[in-house]
Amino acid sequence: MNGWTLGIESTAHTLSFGLVDSEGIPHPAVSDTVRPDKGGIHPREAADHHKEIAHSLFQTLLANYNLSPSEIHAVAYSQGPGLGPCLRVGAAIARGISSRLDVPLVGVNHCVAHIEIGRQQCGCSDPVLLYVSGGNTQVIAHLDGRYRVLGETLDIGIGNMLDKFARAQGIPFPGGPVIEKLAKEWLANNPEPRLTDLELPFAVRGMDLAFSGVMTAAQRLLDNGAELGAVCWSLQEHAFAACVEVAERALSHTGKTELLLGGGVACNTRLREMCSLMAGERESTSHAPPRMYCIDNGTMIGLLGYIELQNGRVTPYEESAVDQYLRTDQTQVTWAV
Ligand code: ATP
Ligand code: FE2
Repeated sequence: MNGWTLGIESTAHTLSFGLVDSEGIPHPAVSDTVRPDKGGIHPREAADHHKEIAHSLFQTLLANYNLSPSEIHAVAYSQGPGLGPCLRVGAAIARGISSRLDVPLVGVNHCVAHIEIGRQQCGCSDPVLLYVSGGNTQVIAHLDGRYRVLGETLDIGIGNMLDKFARAQGIPFPGGPVIEKLAKEWLANNPEPRLTDLELPFAVRGMDLAFSGVMTAAQRLLDNGAELGAVCWSLQEHAFAACVEVAERALSHTGKTELLLGGGVACNTRLREMCSLMAGERESTSHAPPRMYCIDNGTMIGLLGYIELQNGRVTPYEESAVDQYLRTDQTQVTWAV
């Protein structure tokens, strides 16, 4: 491809524009995230936020890269999964830019984009993926032309669980990074921590996971007088150990030797450490992309768009509607893995 591929991400809280150059190299995105003062995300309000800031955010991207719109030769956007109103704003922006510039449009799978940016950044060939974000928690491996979900959460995503637990303590969105900080601070004062009196239920069900029980139990520990930092530490240990256990089983069942982290919760240093320990014990390797490519970003959408266009896929206007419930394994992987 000659020019740049623009990627537009708008599945939930974040509107983000990213770029991939003519060689397929990703470049950092510009993003803006809604942070509700109270309560969780309201899809309509997030969509209104995305609509309001879209123009100025896009102008910032062009200015940052000293780019003229005519240098954009393709437009990729998140077609799903995600919140309907947010997805529709991104798709409308993508259609608008693509038709104004008369360049191809390609709707991509948000979850697969998390995988491909990770593979590209970490140089993995055929990894097992631990995809841990707000809305999603999945263990994935490539098999017969699809990314197959081997295990996943049966209730809420691990990030949503962390955010909800944090919110109940008055910590605003996103709660995950604050929980990490509180756990670290507590650990600094408690260098030999024990789970005694801080036990939580284990979240593994075969190859699947569940997090709402852990969250309720963590809240109960607090209600019974445990220290917040201690509970944050225990919550991370339990929830992450569950993910790592399923990831280990997936490595074992598939015989693969690379583990790749993706999604916003993959920013967490303790999770990264636990994955590296587990992989090391199995003579495997664990990889995580830079944090700016773990959280939702337009660049990963641009990268998957670039890859799909290289493989001949374009989304005709009449097939460009969004799909809130698009699954990871619905997307045919036509490129080399
Ligand atoms: P998806 O649509 O893929 O579910 P998302 O909308 O949840 O994505 P992401 O940016 O992938 O967005 O992930 C955001 C989540 O990551 C939030 O739940 C946030 O609390 C969590 N998170 C971010 N940083 C950390 C961290 N350091 N530790 C734990 N959780 C984190
Ligand atoms: Fe995401």
